Amino acid sequence: MEAIMNIELPLKLLHKGKVRNMYEIDSETLLLVATDRVSAFDRVFPNGIPGKGKILTQISNKWFKIINYPNHIIETDIENFPEPLNKYFELEDRTVIVKKAKRIDIECVVRGFIIGSGWKEYKESGSVCGIKLPKGLKMASKLSEPIFTPAFKNDKGHDENITFERMVDITGYEIANKLKDISIDIYTKAYNILYDKGIILADTKFEFGIYNGEIILIDEILTPDSSRFWVKEFYKEGESPVSYDKQFIRDYCISIGWEGDTDAPSLPDEIVKKTLEKYNEIYSIISSI
Ligand SMILES: Nc1ncnc2c1ncn2[C@@H]1O[C@H](COP(=O)(O)OP(=O)(O)OP(=O)(O)O)[C@@H](O)[C@H]1O
Ligand SMILES: [Mg+2]
Repeated sequence: MEAIMNIELPLKLLHKGKVRNMYEIDSETLLLVATDRVSAFDRVFPNGIPGKGKILTQISNKWFKIINYPNHIIETDIENFPEPLNKYFELEDRTVIVKKAKRIDIECVVRGFIIGSGWKEYKESGSVCGIKLPKGLKMASKLSEPIFTPAFKNDKGHDENITFERMVDITGYEIANKLKDISIDIYTKAYNILYDKGIILADTKFEFGIYNGEIILIDEILTPDSSRFWVKEFYKEGESPVSYDKQFIRDYCISIGWEGDTDAPSLPDEIVKKTLEKYNEIYSIISSI
């Protein structure tokens, strides 16, 4: 199977994200196509992971059904797409028709464990996004309760970790507080569901938008692109966890001395294959919920 890196459609392309192409259907609706593109350190690799876009879309669709919160989904079945989109078979399973929301430019990150950029920040300052954490945490330590660590969505360059106060400046207090509560709620619900399946949801991020005056979940939720899924059986505080997510790619990049400062290198076949195995593994676990 070839990786689908791009797609040509007779629609207006509004935005090309790192993974998704967003097209306008009309003033109220969008077509969101998840390609097989993959990124690390906010840069897209020249080669993709064949079928990854389908896996991400199916995982998100499943969670949108489980998580009882308003979301952007209108239609997931290509057979019900308007003509001629229902004839574009390359869209199958990787495409959704969604409500066109006004995006809130914040990545709503929830961390139950300290790892990644959070671990880096903690080691330097003892806090994450302005939240002071207890002394003596180790890599991958569980936090006493999940914390909300927002990041500002920077269309150019890296997303930037910000304090909650800074988020309040951007969105206003009411929205900031609401997004924080909803994000922690969804994280906790998903954490409990996955824990029973032998998976630790270490952290995750959500995006929200406003549609008809209502806050809704947009983009993707609880996928291996947006979350860290650790294998419970092998979890050990102080050690880099075994995971079903993009960490494998990040680790490979670090091992060859690339951390996003230049254009992304090609991913070797065995890294592509192993990543696909990991994505398929978490997909089958989430499908069984
Ligand atoms: N229902 C929606 N309404 C409006 N925008 C949406 C909706 N769902 C997703 N988006 C936006 O579409 C884009 C999806 O592309 P993708 O997930 O590849 O982006 P990304 O690489 O995560 O982020 P960026 O947009 O910063 O490149 C994101 O910018 C996301 O915010
Ligand atoms: Mg995204």
